[in-house]
Amino acid sequence: MNNFEFCNPVKVVFGKGSIARLSALIPEGSKVLMVYGGGSIKKNGIYEQVTDALKGFDVTEFPGIEANPHYETCMKAVEIVREKKIDFLLAVGGGSVIDATKFIAVSVGFEGDPWDILSKGGQIKSALPLGTVLTLAATGSEMNERSVISRVSTREKLNFASPLIFPKFSVLDPEVTYSLPARQVANGVVDSFIHVVEQYLTYPVNAKVQDAFSEGLMRVIHEEGLKVLDQPNDYDIRANLMWAATNALNVWIGQGVPQDWSSHRMGYSLTAQFGLDHAQTLAILLPGVMTYMFKEKQVKLARMGEVVFGITEGSEEERAHKTIAACEDFFRRMGLKTRLGECGITEKDLDALAAPVDKQGWKLGEHHNIDSKVAREIMALRL
Ligand code: NZQ
Ligand code: ZN
Repeated sequence: MNNFEFCNPVKVVFGKGSIARLSALIPEGSKVLMVYGGGSIKKNGIYEQVTDALKGFDVTEFPGIEANPHYETCMKAVEIVREKKIDFLLAVGGGSVIDATKFIAVSVGFEGDPWDILSKGGQIKSALPLGTVLTLAATGSEMNERSVISRVSTREKLNFASPLIFPKFSVLDPEVTYSLPARQVANGVVDSFIHVVEQYLTYPVNAKVQDAFSEGLMRVIHEEGLKVLDQPNDYDIRANLMWAATNALNVWIGQGVPQDWSSHRMGYSLTAQFGLDHAQTLAILLPGVMTYMFKEKQVKLARMGEVVFGITEGSEEERAHKTIAACEDFFRRMGLKTRLGECGITEKDLDALAAPVDKQGWKLGEHHNIDSKVAREIMALRL
């Protein structure tokens, strides 16, 4: 196991009716900016629950955060925060709303153009405190220190991380996920599953605790994920998926182990240039990474196949191959596509899709051996 330092300061309030706890979680007397998305919270009762709980606070609303949140929209919120002297941010939504709120939090006190935080690693010196009411189980943003923002004008999507953007609290009520469209439920299942894979499927370092947690999470997400579309109002399925998704990326299982994240980074350009949902990019690319890096990942692929998919027959190499097929089959059963061609992307698009890897100076994968050239080859496997 590798060395690590671990701290996750996020307070989680989990379960039915927990939105009512908001008034006790936000510091008394706060001037709150309530950040939300395109309006789903006004159709499913979440808006009423939140505004009821916020009675007595000075609240300004900022709706209109897009899926794959835009830098341009966040900057409008930053102006309002400065003008109204807001001192607490409340995100009510999925990963996009939470990520946007994190970016707003660090942009308010940033000197210069906050896009530099994403594109040049611009140093963050301060952040407004924020809390979240999660409405979509997927990204883990509710309990981590990461954020992903898109810039429409340049068709770029980039991420940043800072301990200053851990939410102060996150409210997780599984019942609020009943209203999600099937496509978003499936996206959440696939995204959270692949978060575990990115931290697990590398090479063994004898990290038994991390491996056992990861294997448990993958098993739960696979089992419950296959049930949820047929039983959308089953509380236990929703609760298990929600808590699994949070644990899949609250930085816990990734401590002391090598991590990959190449499918995620390569996937950014599929969203920025072709508008594919985040999870959709991963369902296409992950089997490509597994195939291209087969030798490097073979030991853990075989182990994952046994524990998650019950694959016990054949040599280690055969079981590892079966695991790749089982993953792709899982994503398809969830209703996602697994080929670039199914999304209208062809060979001629690959240079532009792979280019950001070199542009950002990324060397992706647990062996840091994926540059734009290799990324293009991996993408070519998925045409
Ligand atoms: O905008 P509204 O109207 O709220 O509708 C949203 C949106 O259209 C809808 N939705 C959310 N909760 C709902 C609901 N509809 C009905 N009922 C509810 N309860 O779902 C749509 C998608 O929402 P979004 O927040 O975009 O989805 P998700 O949570 O999957 O977030 C995706 C974003 O998170 C980033 C992705 O790149 C993408 O930008 N990620 C963030 C990470 C992080 N911060 O750690 C890690 C991830 O790997 C990921 O990259
Ligand atoms: Zn993800």
